[in-house]
Amino acid sequence: MTTLDASPLAQTGLAFPAGFRWGTATAAYQIEGAATLHGRTPSIWDTFSHTPGRVLNGDTGDTAADHYHRMAEDVALLKRLGVSDYRFSVAWSRVRPTGRGPAARRGLDFYRRLVDALLAAGIRPVATLYHWDLPQELEDLGGWPVRETAERFAEYAGLVAGALGDRVADWTTFNEPWCAAFLGYASGVHAPGRTEPEAALRAAHHLNLAHGLGTAALRAVLPRTAEVSLTLNLHVVRPLTRSAADLDAVRRIDALGNRLFLDPVFHGRLPEDLVRDTAGVTDWSFVRDGDLAAAAAPIDWLGINYYAPTVVADAGPPEPAGALAQEGPSPWVGAEERVRILPAPGPRTAMDWPVDAGGLHELLVRLRDELPGVPLMITENGAAYADYADPEGDVHDPDRIGYLHGHLASVHRAIEDGVDVRGYFVWSLLDNFEWAYGYSKRFGLVHVDFATQRRTPKDSARWYADVIARGGLPA
Ligand code: FCB
Repeated sequence: MTTLDASPLAQTGLAFPAGFRWGTATAAYQIEGAATLHGRTPSIWDTFSHTPGRVLNGDTGDTAADHYHRMAEDVALLKRLGVSDYRFSVAWSRVRPTGRGPAARRGLDFYRRLVDALLAAGIRPVATLYHWDLPQELEDLGGWPVRETAERFAEYAGLVAGALGDRVADWTTFNEPWCAAFLGYASGVHAPGRTEPEAALRAAHHLNLAHGLGTAALRAVLPRTAEVSLTLNLHVVRPLTRSAADLDAVRRIDALGNRLFLDPVFHGRLPEDLVRDTAGVTDWSFVRDGDLAAAAAPIDWLGINYYAPTVVADAGPPEPAGALAQEGPSPWVGAEERVRILPAPGPRTAMDWPVDAGGLHELLVRLRDELPGVPLMITENGAAYADYADPEGDVHDPDRIGYLHGHLASVHRAIEDGVDVRGYFVWSLLDNFEWAYGYSKRFGLVHVDFATQRRTPKDSARWYADVIARGGLPA
């Protein structure tokens, strides 16, 4: 990978602080494949993707990007990028089949080899314990809506920390518990595909509890210098108008999308307005004494995944029956009838998500004010575009470069505004299994031909390598 002539960033571009961590992120089910190898048992995503109609084109993660067998090649790609950090996730049912059985030595060995390869390449591993792949057997016992799942998670966290804690300094309990709870159990577009509003609220609570119990289990095993974190997909919610009704719609979505996680984890409480708004769905009696204090176990940094903002409006008077084309069950439990989610303006990615880098700055400044003293890490940011390899074998992705440039400039502006952002991870290293969209959406800096598993760095990979080498953005 070529590095452009370095120019003094202070005059021409945007320099990031010394020690800023530059990384890429992936998740186990999206890249590993080897779904039945070495004792791995099915996760809810194996079951879901093998259920007809759930994933576009019937795609599954059976082979994915075959990272399980191509790990060394992928670490070499990371080294060429020059990243300081790599965020990956551990597949629970690979290291503890069925979710509650004995540890699987060969599964753990895979992650030991990965971490050793990263360290040998001078790359810091950041391990996420849960990126949505609950062992199917635990779902069969009730899944996240039951509290035992949180207890099993804490056991699993301790087990993985025991195996890797001597060489992994950075740990994240959960990736985006909002998605696990509300896409998994309310709208049902993600595994396990249930559409039970009360179960989704139970799941959210038990995910918060599991985060706290897992944090304690990690601390019990890890050296004192280890850092424990949580990654949230906080929502940047904008009102359609400044009307009181539209602002109230913002409040409802902010409660469900943000405060339901931030309040327990950082303040040991539930948002009162949310408890009130969801009274018709649940009385929250599944929250036991001590749960919220457990959820508030102190963490070392908060991970932020940001892609796009959300525009909302008051739903207005009820329409006559049948007047509105429903798009299936809503993830917004308790707010379905009161809030309309609207398409945000602006250019779009292949996900049809609007490109709005200003939203990231807005979110970071909010967190600076609401969570003083909590360091932040951008654990995911990136974009899907319809990339293809041209006859010369090159992949030109100027839109992704534009997206990343704009969002990094936003992060830089936030740092200048006093936000403590420690690092930035591009989603994703590789094109991969994009959940319900299967292989149809490409987020990688590196193109993957899924028929041959050939990896081709896109133009954006060369661009990102240059940013890292410069320590900032070119002018
Ligand atoms: C995030 C997920 C990640 C990927 C990106 C596009 O919500 O954490 O796995 O799917 O979206």
